[in-house]
Amino acid sequence: MAQDRVLFFDTTLRDGEQSPGCSMTHDEKVWMAHALEDLGVDILEAGFAISSDGDFAAIQAVSKEIRKPRIASLARARREDIERAAASLEHAEHSRIHIFLASSDIHLEYKLKISREAALEQAAQSVALARTYVDDVEFSPEDSTRTDIDFLCKIVSVAIEAGATTINMPDTVGYATPNEYAAMFRTVRERVPGADKVIFSSHCHNDLGLAVANSLGAIEGGARQVECTINGIGERAGNAAIEEIAAALSVRRDKYPVEHNLKLDQLYPTSQRLAQVISFAPSPNKAIVGSNAFAHEAGIHQHGVLSNPLTYEIMTPASVGVPANRMVLGKHSGRHALRSRLVDLGYHLEASDLDAAYRAFTELADKKKSVYDQDLINLVAHHKRHHDLISAEPVSEAS
Ligand code: KIV
Ligand code: ZN
Repeated sequence: MAQDRVLFFDTTLRDGEQSPGCSMTHDEKVWMAHALEDLGVDILEAGFAISSDGDFAAIQAVSKEIRKPRIASLARARREDIERAAASLEHAEHSRIHIFLASSDIHLEYKLKISREAALEQAAQSVALARTYVDDVEFSPEDSTRTDIDFLCKIVSVAIEAGATTINMPDTVGYATPNEYAAMFRTVRERVPGADKVIFSSHCHNDLGLAVANSLGAIEGGARQVECTINGIGERAGNAAIEEIAAALSVRRDKYPVEHNLKLDQLYPTSQRLAQVISFAPSPNKAIVGSNAFAHEAGIHQHGVLSNPLTYEIMTPASVGVPANRMVLGKHSGRHALRSRLVDLGYHLEASDLDAAYRAFTELADKKKSVYDQDLINLVAHHKRHHDLISAEPVSEAS
């Protein structure tokens, strides 16, 4: 794979917001857009201008306030959509109109009720119209992965000829597998005239839990833009999660020798901001940003991480902006983790006291799912009072 750059196209405010329970107010969108700018996304899709006055106003506000990323506004392949998208971007420093038009037979027949020929004409006309407003136009043949490959090449070719600068081939229903998706990019790039003049892009949904794997497959197939959302929010099972793609590119640079503009240490703060805005956090076991992503409970793991974090961590929490790894004390935890947490709490125990504390701790851990700091403080205090087992005093901050 050639050493080059992958652009991050964030669609949290558009595809992400389309998921149940994820709607955002005007001000929340602008606040999120600032975090996305700080994270370093290259393109920020701020909404679907014609879908509502609220979306239009949010794109306008984001266009006024956010200067570094290119602001994208979504449109169907229709004149009224494109005009509305262009108007929403009037104040943007860098703008993009993103046109989508279904290309699979199932969508053409049952949703749009138009022929393939009509779709080709609509693609050409809409891209050409958008180019009269902006010089950066993205075209997405919706449901690309269920589109006949010859027709996909045809519609992509028509869009490039009409002036599209980015070709996004979405896995709209999360149907593809990584090898298949990579092959689709290779085929289209090989067959379509002018493919070397445009940037190819992935857009993956997570219906089979493959959105991130497919995005990486697309990069292997030559895509140099990935569309994704914070925390993977999006339609149905969600979109590819930006934090997972970014971390994979960083940790597995040996396999993906590509540059990008994201500041990885902003991943967790941005994820936290979104969680605050939409009032739900990513699941605890969510990679990179879930509350358990750097938590270790099993004694063997805790001992390893305390000796050298690389034993069980493939990246440091700090590298993705997570404050520190979390040793979760529970029934699988060992003496090392208990001693370490007691030291953090200011208790330095002699070996025999540690044995006693550990016995008391395992009894407690059998009864409770997790043992928190306050439980440990109570435990030490109890044994100090009743059994005189703990000889150490808590050390003060200064000592
Ligand atoms: O999933 C999809 O196909 C989309 C398009 C609008 C790009 O979100
Ligand atoms: Zn989508």
